Amino acid sequence: MRVIVEKDKEGVARRAAQFAAILVRKRPNCVLGLATGGTPLGMYAELIRLHREEGLDFSRVVTFNLDEYVGLSATHPQSYRHFMQQNLFDHINIDPRDTHVPDGRALDFEAYCAHYERLISDEGGIDLQVLGIGSDGHIAFNEPGSSLGSRTRLKTLTAETIRDNARFFGGEHEVPRLAITMGVGTILESRQCLLLAAGASKAKAIRETIEGPITAQITASALQLHRDVIAILDEEAARLLERRDYYLEVERAQAALQTGHFGRIDA
Ligand code: F6R
Repeated sequence: MRVIVEKDKEGVARRAAQFAAILVRKRPNCVLGLATGGTPLGMYAELIRLHREEGLDFSRVVTFNLDEYVGLSATHPQSYRHFMQQNLFDHINIDPRDTHVPDGRALDFEAYCAHYERLISDEGGIDLQVLGIGSDGHIAFNEPGSSLGSRTRLKTLTAETIRDNARFFGGEHEVPRLAITMGVGTILESRQCLLLAAGASKAKAIRETIEGPITAQITASALQLHRDVIAILDEEAARLLERRDYYLEVERAQAALQTGHFGRIDA
């Protein structure tokens, strides 16, 4: 896993948006996997800026969101569809028909989840999947104990996630108990993953994800099995990483390689 440490959450947002923008410019019809929550907000703001000020063109981009609360309609202020409209889709030139967020009010969830998986594969799979991480180490809503081979399905939220997300609702009792979520297996099929984390509350989950054993108790740790994951962290989220200096060294070497300024050792 490549680990990039930025100074603060603004740095994380800029760097993450850069990766997405490079892809959108290189492949205008790319498929982006998107996340909600506090973490990617800055990245979306930067993508909107790039669209407005630098003409970043989303007209052929297709998106799939990771998850949605069960029971919330698309217009509910706390639904993830609403979040995406407010924080990204309404401000860029994406075709609304190409934006996919799971339907929290599907009638037959099993059939709907299979349909969501089919939609992803019909588009040729996800090129770049943006991920946040829960303080319990979840990616999407794959809570501890989720199968590492899981596909899109319903999942019961843990007390920790309900507590963490209560800040977006009127209190814990208003947070839905169930969500539709892409599975860990679905996420691992993306061609590239960007794992974003900022703030001290993510430090433990990040250490376990990057340097701990692969375990269904920390579903983000399954990303160690993926061959192209870039973790973009702020200083606080990276605080507990034991190999931090090494990750910094790798980035320095990478930059030197790109500029051609790598040292030559002549005999
Ligand atoms: C949201 C999602 C979740 C969040 C995670 C972190 O679509 O999939 O896994 O990424 O709960 O949430 P924040 O960013 O609010 O800390």
